[in-house]
Amino acid sequence: MTTVGSDCVFEQNWQKYRREEHAVWRFLFERQQRLLAGRACREYLEGLAGLGVAAKGIPDFRRLNDILDRATGWRIVAVPGLVPDDVFFAHLARRCFPSTCFIRSRNQLDYLQEPDVFHDICGHVPLLMNPVFADYMQAYGKGGLKALGLGHLQHLARLYWYTVEFGLIETPAGLRIYGSGILSSAGESVYSLEDPRPARLRFDLRRIMRTHYRIDDYQRLYFVIDDFQQLFDATRPDFAPIYQEIAILPDLEPAAQIHGDREVSCGEPKKNWAATQRGPSLGRKRLEDVR
Ligand code: PHE
Ligand code: FE
Repeated sequence: MTTVGSDCVFEQNWQKYRREEHAVWRFLFERQQRLLAGRACREYLEGLAGLGVAAKGIPDFRRLNDILDRATGWRIVAVPGLVPDDVFFAHLARRCFPSTCFIRSRNQLDYLQEPDVFHDICGHVPLLMNPVFADYMQAYGKGGLKALGLGHLQHLARLYWYTVEFGLIETPAGLRIYGSGILSSAGESVYSLEDPRPARLRFDLRRIMRTHYRIDDYQRLYFVIDDFQQLFDATRPDFAPIYQEIAILPDLEPAAQIHGDREVSCGEPKKNWAATQRGPSLGRKRLEDVR
């Protein structure tokens, strides 16, 4: 067993993956490729192509890092699983993305409590190729260390959840996905854009910070940004006074509606929407957890 230091970093040991593990990757990758055409945002698809992440198997982080580092100065660091918050934020603040190495097994293709290498590499890493998103993630890491010190982690964590994990983005062609929790989930890739049940609201920093989220099922609420620059600009101000401001306001449930909410319509239903109506898309547990 590789030793893990205080930064939780260890080795991916790429040569140790078994054929079966690469086969699980291939299954997941091919399924998402089919679903994400016309659903994932352009920046994500470009990042994926730029990194050369493909169906053939679990990528070697060393190879991805050569490309990622040259593009935006980010690097993937291997970690054994979820790491403590302070460690997580400190990595992001140094433009290091902590990625798990293990892959889910055959009987967890649709449901997994923790992040695995498919979620981390296929869900998160492609957007780190985008310069604006790359800066946002670093700013988030710095902001995380600050929020920890101020005792406002739960408010900042909601921002991560409703943007990095479950964010939607408006484009001239319609709504698209950029949240990695959606991008790595077959069911939610379709549900988030096309199901009439969840609410889709315009991005609103304070509203997000006040809103609970669920980790055990598809989201009931998504927030929609115009572009990554909007996200970066809206989160640039000092959060300390904002934390003070919202600390005296009640938290909100995802289903709540408040004055000032701006609903975004989800446009034309997609062609294979009917296929997803068959299964028990709700009531089933969700794919990935917090990060
Ligand atoms: N501006 C935030 C602060 O002062 C930092 C931050 C930036 C947090 C981007 C999240 C995302 O805390
Ligand atoms: Fe994640």
